[in-house]
Amino acid sequence: MSTQASKLQALMDSHRTQNGATRVIAVTSGKGGVGKSTLSANISYVLASRGFKVGLMDADIGLANLDVMFNVRAERNILHVLKGEARFEDIVVRLEENLFLIPGESGDEILKFSDATIVSRFIDESQALEGLDFLIIDTGAGIGDTIQMFLRAADEVVVVTVPDPAAITDAYAMVKVISKIKSDLSMVVNQVRNSREGMKIFDTIKKVAQGNIGEDLNLRMLGSVRSDASVARSVKQRLLVCKELANIAPAADIEAIAAALADKKEHKMLESGKEGGIGTFFKKLLGQF
Ligand SMILES: Nc1ncnc2c1ncn2[C@@H]1O[C@H](COP(=O)(O)OP(=O)(O)O)[C@@H](O)[C@H]1O
Ligand SMILES: [Mg+2]
Repeated sequence: MSTQASKLQALMDSHRTQNGATRVIAVTSGKGGVGKSTLSANISYVLASRGFKVGLMDADIGLANLDVMFNVRAERNILHVLKGEARFEDIVVRLEENLFLIPGESGDEILKFSDATIVSRFIDESQALEGLDFLIIDTGAGIGDTIQMFLRAADEVVVVTVPDPAAITDAYAMVKVISKIKSDLSMVVNQVRNSREGMKIFDTIKKVAQGNIGEDLNLRMLGSVRSDASVARSVKQRLLVCKELANIAPAADIEAIAAALADKKEHKMLESGKEGGIGTFFKKLLGQF
C-alpha cells in the first residue's frame, strides 16, 4: 500500500469504532428530477454528522451534479482510477470531516473495463475506501443496463418517487425490474404534502407489486420527505438543506430516513457480522462475480 493510499485510509480510519464493512446504498428512480441527488447528498451529510464515515458517489450526470451541490470542483473521477491515471487519493474530495465525495461516471464507460489485470488493480486500490461505513451512490434514472449493474452490486436499493402519476408509474416499472435482481427494496416518496400522502402512494405501489410480482419481493417504506420551496432554492444558493436549513420540514424527514438507514446497518451487522463491503461491491460492479 503506497503512502498516498494509506493517507486516505488514515483519514477514514480516524476515530473509528468497529462499524463493520461498508454498506453500499444505491439511490435510484424511474423518472429524473425526483430528488435523488438532493436526498443522496443530505442523507450522506446527516449520517456523516452522526459520526459515520460516508462516501458519496456521483454516478449520474444530471443538471444538479453533486459537485455543484457541494460547490466543489471534481476534475477527475473514478474512470481515471480505473484507467490507472489517478488513485482514489487523487479523486476523492473531502467535504466534511466524515464525508467524502467520490466523483463517478454515468457508468457506461466504467463497464467497458473487463480486463482482469485492470479490474484487479482497481479492486486493490479500492481498499483505500474500506474505512467507509456507508457508500451512497446517486445513480441515474431509468432502467438502463448500467444502472442495473450498480443496483445489482449494491447492498441496498432505494427507489425515489414523487406523487405525480407519471413518476409513480415509472417508479413501479423500476420496482418491477429491480425485483428480478433484488429481493429487498426500499422506497422514499419525496415532495409530499404530509407523510400520509407518502404512505398512500407507497401502499398503492406495494399492492400492485404484490399482485403482479408476488410476495417474494420485500418492498418497504423508508420514509417520505415533505415538499418545501426552499429546497429547490437551496441548490441555486449552494446550501445543503440538512446543514444550513436544518429547521425546515424536509430536513427533519431526511434525518429520520438517515436514522432508519443507520439502524438497519446495525441490525445487518448483528445478523451477519460482516457484509460484503467495498471490494465485493466493485467486484460485482465490474462483473467479477
Ligand atoms: N422535498 C423537496 N421539496 C422541494 N423541492 C425539492 C425537494 N426535493 C428535491 N427538490 C427539488 O427538485 C429538483 C430535482 O431534484 P434533484 O435532487 O436534482 O433530482 P434528481 O437527482 O432525481 O434528478 C431540484 O430543484 C430540487 O431542489
Ligand atoms: Mg440528480
